[in-house]
Amino acid sequence: MRIFDTHAHLLDEQFDADREVLVASLSDAGIAHVMEACCDEAGIDRTVAFVQRVPFLYGSAGVHPHSADEFTPETLDHIRAALTHERMVAIGEIGLDYHYDFSPRDVQRDCFDAQLALAAELKRSVIIHDREAHGDCMDMLRRYRGRLSGVMHCFSASYEIAKECIDLGLFIAFGGALTFKNAVNQWEIASKLPLDRLLIETDCPYMTPVPLRGTRNDPTKIRYTLEKLAALRGTDPETLSETLYHNSFRAFGIEEDQ
Ligand code: NI
Repeated sequence: MRIFDTHAHLLDEQFDADREVLVASLSDAGIAHVMEACCDEAGIDRTVAFVQRVPFLYGSAGVHPHSADEFTPETLDHIRAALTHERMVAIGEIGLDYHYDFSPRDVQRDCFDAQLALAAELKRSVIIHDREAHGDCMDMLRRYRGRLSGVMHCFSASYEIAKECIDLGLFIAFGGALTFKNAVNQWEIASKLPLDRLLIETDCPYMTPVPLRGTRNDPTKIRYTLEKLAALRGTDPETLSETLYHNSFRAFGIEEDQ
């Protein structure tokens, strides 16, 4: 089995004590590739250095809505420069977060729009974080119709929105929340969407799947999400993982290496 974890934060301080050991163990656990998702300006250079050092990693550069108030026009130059490095393929994670509102909403929208425009200009994929901001998020994405590619990360909206995102050129990623007992809505969405537009992710160290909730998440724990999705789709994890693996390369516009 080979798995692509399409969203991880291995540079999070929760991995400081054992990051090297964990990274070295991933390939034996069937984790063939991981997308390291950047969240703030300080993370851009760290992500580039990490991805250059670990050959099976891919990386993104971008500013999360939580950090939108630190975003400046120079940040765009920083992202642009980061994407010239090998295996730095996407702009993310970017979007809107009206749950925490750590940055004012108009500042979040300006930051998101500037990065969507850069992605369209550079023809790069985006990694989108949309938490309790579905209306504004979709309004903004619709303006980029025909110029969008990438991933709706940790998808939490409706089936109708998922279908529209796919129509706009995006893939739908499910994480550990798919295994939660109350995720009935997500189960229905995940079972009905076209298989060739689905992805799985961990968002580690967060969003640990059942039955390990309460412990730190890491890419090896993606198996619980894979097994849940396989059950929902009426297939086996092995077959499903192969499809999702190919989907992941298409979502990020990466040429497959084998
Ligand atoms: Ni994330």
